[in-house]
Amino acid sequence: MTTLKVENLHVSVAGKEILKGLDLIVNTGEIHAIMGPNGTGKSTLSQTIMGHPAYQVTQGNIYIDGQNLAEMSVDARARAGLFLAMQYPSEIQGVTNTEFMRAAINARRPEDDQISVMSFIEKLDEKREFLAMTEEMAERYLNEGFSGGEKKRNEILQMMMIQPQIAILDEIDSGLDIDALKVVSRGVNSMRSNEFGALMITHYQRLLDYIVPDFVHVMMDGKIVKTGDANLAKKLEAEGYAGLRDELGLDVHLTDEETNSYFVED
Ligand SMILES: Nc1ncnc2c1ncn2[C@@H]1O[C@H](COP(=O)(O)OP(=O)(O)OP(=O)(O)O)[C@@H](O)[C@H]1O
Ligand SMILES: [Mg+2]
Repeated sequence: MTTLKVENLHVSVAGKEILKGLDLIVNTGEIHAIMGPNGTGKSTLSQTIMGHPAYQVTQGNIYIDGQNLAEMSVDARARAGLFLAMQYPSEIQGVTNTEFMRAAINARRPEDDQISVMSFIEKLDEKREFLAMTEEMAERYLNEGFSGGEKKRNEILQMMMIQPQIAILDEIDSGLDIDALKVVSRGVNSMRSNEFGALMITHYQRLLDYIVPDFVHVMMDGKIVKTGDANLAKKLEAEGYAGLRDELGLDVHLTDEETNSYFVED
């Protein structure tokens, strides 16, 4: 079993504190969802876990199987089994998807046991077909010219090829049409096992109809304020964040409360 443990995490970005004491444990075998208003720090959490240099940990720690991430490079984090599908995947010229995935797989294997070209291609064809992606897409430069939905599908292809222990999926459902949403969900569900755990960031309960989470966490103002099961997402959908905030007696300002005033009818 692999465990990702986030303990009292405080993170600052550009001199501003965004995460304010976040605790979370994700084990393999579990699917977690994090929901929360825009700008509350969800992507900050995912970028910090992967080691993006702009995100400065000022207090607290993150561990993978007891190893402190603060002492690990981005590469070492990937080798330890972490994977991040970014909210906005970058386009990288000069490296094809195939080259990238092969390098990522091999980086996690011993030098004297690299994946053979044959087994790599077999695996790629199988996963690609499962996700209804064309051969041509795999040969293109990383994400170059991919549509929003294609990028998301490509992130799932990478995840299925690399087979991480813990995957962080930041808005993997954003911009997907109904069919693509089903394909992406099928990809994540196919990974479900005792050797795989996921932390899915989403705004939409609909994704959780397809990938039913074991835990749902609500994040507000840089902290997890409530944890429940899949029903918590349904309750949020019905009542919104303001309902939960008031129920918990939190002093958090929500964006729509500013804009609502523009819509007041006379
Ligand atoms: N690299 C950065 N430079 C400056 N500010 C940043 C940076 N990254 C994040 N922030 C700020 O941190 C806050 C949290 O951003 P974050 O992207 O983590 O929110 P989020 O919860 O993922 O929101 P969304 O639901 O809109 O994706 C925002 O106010 C954002 O502007
Ligand atoms: Mg985000």
